[in-house]
Amino acid sequence: MKDNIPLNSDDGMVRVLMVCLGNICRSPTAHGVFLQRIESCSLQNKILVDSAGTGDWHVGSPPDRRTSNAASARGYQLEHLVARRVRQQDFFEFDYLLAMDCDNLAALESARPSASNCRIELFMDYAARDENEVPDPYYSGEEGFELVLDMVEDAADGLLEALIQRHLQN
Ligand code: 4NP
Repeated sequence: MKDNIPLNSDDGMVRVLMVCLGNICRSPTAHGVFLQRIESCSLQNKILVDSAGTGDWHVGSPPDRRTSNAASARGYQLEHLVARRVRQQDFFEFDYLLAMDCDNLAALESARPSASNCRIELFMDYAARDENEVPDPYYSGEEGFELVLDMVEDAADGLLEALIQRHLQN
């Protein structure tokens, strides 16, 4: 059933920002996977996805090569993405700021301007599996990047279903 969650913009678009620390591993993966889900349902004119980091070390860089290689092997192209930091206007332009872990959730909550009414949540709240954080793969081996993809694919499916139900059904 559609619930009455107001969107920030009156153009009817649902805007989702995926957030991690560096914006070169987890959030670009979530960005690319969720965009594929949006496009596979032809909802590009209804749901917009972007990604950003709470840290600024990698601003201007493409995703980590290990991230784009693992994603590419599953059919997701991330090479065109460019890391950026979360900015003030994100709290007003996006309806959902979805953090990959609890530290980034806390960073977003403490940076939220008081006038913003966006939802700040854990991305994994939408997954079927029980874990609530997507682990940082930066210092892990290849298996860390595969785990990120497994978790992100699960949450992306749940998120799409939730957004359709909340905002896009008649
Ligand atoms: P991400 O991973 O937050 O998933 O993009 C990281 C990338 C870089 C660093 C930490 C996490 N770093 O410390 O440089």
